[in-house]
Amino acid sequence: MKVLAINGSARGAKGNTQILLETVGKGLKEKKIDFEIITLADKKLNPCKGCGSCAGKRKCVQDDDINAIFQKMLEADGIILGSPVYFGNVSSRMQMLIERTGYIARSNDNPFKGKVGAPVAVARRAGTTFVYAALNYFFGIAEMPICTSSYWNMAIGRLPGDVLKDDEGMKIMETLGKNLADMLLKLRK
Ligand SMILES: Cc1cc2nc3c(=O)[nH]c(=O)nc-3n(C[C@H](O)[C@H](O)[C@H](O)COP(=O)(O)O)c2cc1C
Repeated sequence: MKVLAINGSARGAKGNTQILLETVGKGLKEKKIDFEIITLADKKLNPCKGCGSCAGKRKCVQDDDINAIFQKMLEADGIILGSPVYFGNVSSRMQMLIERTGYIARSNDNPFKGKVGAPVAVARRAGTTFVYAALNYFFGIAEMPICTSSYWNMAIGRLPGDVLKDDEGMKIMETLGKNLADMLLKLRK
């Protein structure tokens, strides 16, 4: 059993999104579920060209890191998408990930079907509910059941490490990790 978390922050492994994803991962590791975080900040990503040449091939013609990330998503039982709020929406890196991998999947009989999805959002002040919803659109069109927590999966923080001061946000992530582990063990055994 394996969960792949994708961090859409420009700060990569040094930011708040990473802290939240690592916190979710604790509950998974307690149940012996493999957990990996990849950050988009150090990846080469382009926007979707809309050429449709991924149809029937399960890969994109563009020479960047999307095919390798798509392969990792195929191998995972659960996929977490984590994004900071940038101007009220997901980060541009996360949007590219969504458009590229989502389009490849939809053009190839949707291999994401049945994998469990979970969104994670963080902001300094506003936009977390919008990003929570935007990330869920990815799961909702891929026949992926979505995992929830004791509140919407979000936290508040501006500077790296600030989310650690958001006690409720951190608790939400801990509960999400436990709930995701339970869901995976029931649905994907
Ligand atoms: C380009 C940019 C745009 C941002 N836009 C918003 C915003 O619309 N609302 C908000 O509350 N915070 C906004 N922020 C703040 C980030 O969401 C916040 O610092 C968050 O903790 C970053 O997460 P990270 O450390 O994982 O990168 C923005 C930050 C950046 C760099």
